[in-house]
Amino acid sequence: MIMPKKYWIPLVGLPVMILSFQNCSDFTVQQSIMEQSSMASGQSLLDSQELPYLTDPARGPLVRWYQQGQPSKVDKGYSGADKLSYVFAADRAMTGQLFAAYSGSAGAEETSVSVASGKITVNRIFSAGNSAQATVNVPALGQQMVIALRTGTKAEDFSLLVNGVVQTLTITKTGAPQEFSYVVKTLAAGTTGGKIYEYMVFNDRLNNAQLNSISRLIGTNNSISQVMFDPAIFADSSGSTSPTVDTKLAAAKVVIDSYCLSCHGAGSSKGDFSNMTAASMITRGFVKAGQPLSSSLYYRMKGTQGGGTKNMPDNGVSLSATQLQAVYDWISSIQ
Ligand code: HEC
Repeated sequence: MIMPKKYWIPLVGLPVMILSFQNCSDFTVQQSIMEQSSMASGQSLLDSQELPYLTDPARGPLVRWYQQGQPSKVDKGYSGADKLSYVFAADRAMTGQLFAAYSGSAGAEETSVSVASGKITVNRIFSAGNSAQATVNVPALGQQMVIALRTGTKAEDFSLLVNGVVQTLTITKTGAPQEFSYVVKTLAAGTTGGKIYEYMVFNDRLNNAQLNSISRLIGTNNSISQVMFDPAIFADSSGSTSPTVDTKLAAAKVVIDSYCLSCHGAGSSKGDFSNMTAASMITRGFVKAGQPLSSSLYYRMKGTQGGGTKNMPDNGVSLSATQLQAVYDWISSIQ
């Protein structure tokens, strides 16, 4: 029996639609696998550079490391610092003051992280009536959370990561807080509605990349799966850096690994950008130290700067200004 013609139309149309959907989702899946693996390479580069320094009190600024069962894993004392960073794992249900550092004088030079009504508040009191503060949301999921805070001498100089993610802070000032001098300090960890599982204190003003690395370490130690690598950490050029860190390379790697390695992988005849380092890219001729506009790795990317054809990546994808800038900044920083 011959089917009436009208039934043929959807039967012919359907496979074409399925095919185009498959292509589309394959591409999305591939892109996301590429992005995840390049995140992983940016992340492992960061960790391999930072963690040996940040977890070794003999090499870096770590002064205090508390773990359950090992409350004095590191205890070097922490008086006299004018810059401090704290990273801790707490129950997400905790309320009140989760963590605080006091100068010793009542109501003066105190920094605290507290939670009320689903909001995390950082409060830096210089003296009664003179303070700086900012508030963000408690994460929506998870039994526990990891909070990382770095503080500088100015009351309003602080940065906050929650579960590894850099928080956009609106910092408000009350009165006229002066610079902290932090003569004597006491650390206090809260107990209301839950507990603190682990904390690390650094006698330095860590950058967001370092805070992210430590947040993920503490997340892993306490099986807190919500703690993430956040590429926004590389936008933070302030803060102290360890002697070995190259956050500019890590930021450029995230771009190159995500958008270029599919064609420029190991052994590629079009140019091998795998395991990119300054030395390897200079040797291979794609980078001129300190000169992004004369480096084909940079000027071949879709953009307006530098010489030559600007057709990369060669698959129709366009890079954002921030991504182009990351590669520019890295090449500029090479000496
Ligand atoms: C879809 C495949 C593909 C992707 C993705 C791709 N490229 Fe290419 N690339 C090519 C091809 C093909 C050539 C050789 C033809 C040419 O030079 O235009 C090439 C050549 C180049 C060259 C010149 C190499 C040489 O030996 O002089 C540079 C530099 C380059 N690409 C940079 C990039 C960068 C940077 C990215 C990522 C932002 C990228 N490419 C992504 C396919 C790709």
